[in-house]
Amino acid sequence: MHQPIAPGALPDERDVLVQALSISRVLEKNGWFVHCLPADDNLNFLDDIKKVKPDLVFNLVETFTNSGLNSFRIPMLLQMSGVLYTGNSSQAIYITSDKMLTKTILNIHDLPAEKAYIRPVLQIREKGYYIFKPQCEDASVSISDESVRYIETCEQADKILEALEKQYNFPFMCEKFIWGREFNVSVIGIKGNPRVLQPAEIVFIGDDNPYRIVDYASKWDESSLRYRNSVRSFSFKPDDNPLIQKLVEITKKCWHIFKLSGYARVDFRVDEKGKPWILEINANPCSSPDSGLAAAAENEGISFNELINIIINEATHDNQGYHSAF
Ligand SMILES: Nc1ncnc2c1ncn2[C@@H]1O[C@H](COP(=O)(O)OP(=O)(O)O)[C@@H](O)[C@H]1O
Ligand SMILES: [Mg+2]
Repeated sequence: MHQPIAPGALPDERDVLVQALSISRVLEKNGWFVHCLPADDNLNFLDDIKKVKPDLVFNLVETFTNSGLNSFRIPMLLQMSGVLYTGNSSQAIYITSDKMLTKTILNIHDLPAEKAYIRPVLQIREKGYYIFKPQCEDASVSISDESVRYIETCEQADKILEALEKQYNFPFMCEKFIWGREFNVSVIGIKGNPRVLQPAEIVFIGDDNPYRIVDYASKWDESSLRYRNSVRSFSFKPDDNPLIQKLVEITKKCWHIFKLSGYARVDFRVDEKGKPWILEINANPCSSPDSGLAAAAENEGISFNELINIIINEATHDNQGYHSAF
């Protein structure tokens, strides 16, 4: 299952079709009969599910009724229909789709997440650079150099948030900007337990990306210099070992705290003093062959074919799946 994609959609939206196609190929090669089903707003897919009676749904749905936050409704409906599905539970997807809610839970558990604000901003505890980003949308949507601003007052932050919300029609937040390095840590479930894969650093080559961020162009515009100059790397100097260990440990804690299952990816920034900060938890990360998840698996000798099989086994193990309930 994937969200329906309109003709002329932007690359971040079209990407789900790349995932659906490449995963379908693997499944068909392994003897499954595959039926690609768009999660339409009118819930017609529920009738299709009744008719097809799938052994399993590979859930790739990133947005429902045009909203990232609503994507949790798909696993919820699948669960109510008694259908096994891959990946994370609706609860885990709901909580992690909201970056503010995620931060609150991280802070309760003493895990590092920078200060962030939503409207109305009543108090900015520290003047400085902040990044303005969607509260519940993914894929670097709206992120550019303009997203990073020097903020001194609540009013200033409030005004920018209000303008962005008017422009994009979804909620925004602003968060303390972390100058430093960026890491993605992928994790897969093996019988309910997390296997954290070797962290990947996103290395920003050259000087054309002054804030060294994965903005929309770096992620999606293949013709841009930023796209070519944002490179995933798995090789580290021995000095980085303690940091890599720390990223793995934090990711494992996130798995347990957020009751993740199947597969996930945690995004980090590491500040200039070497302290890691969690940016977000992706409970439904991109799973195309060129995704961070597939690259991290391949780096450990797990082919794309094997990765898909691991994800499926996890959802069908003991005919239960490993979607923990809160
Ligand atoms: N607090 C922050 N400090 C520095 N860079 C950030 C911060 N928050 C986000 N970014 C940059 O913006 C990108 C997208 O933000 P992220 O929170 O991961 O949302 P998403 O990937 O869901 O769009 C990150 O990969 C990072 O480069
Ligand atoms: Mg991210």
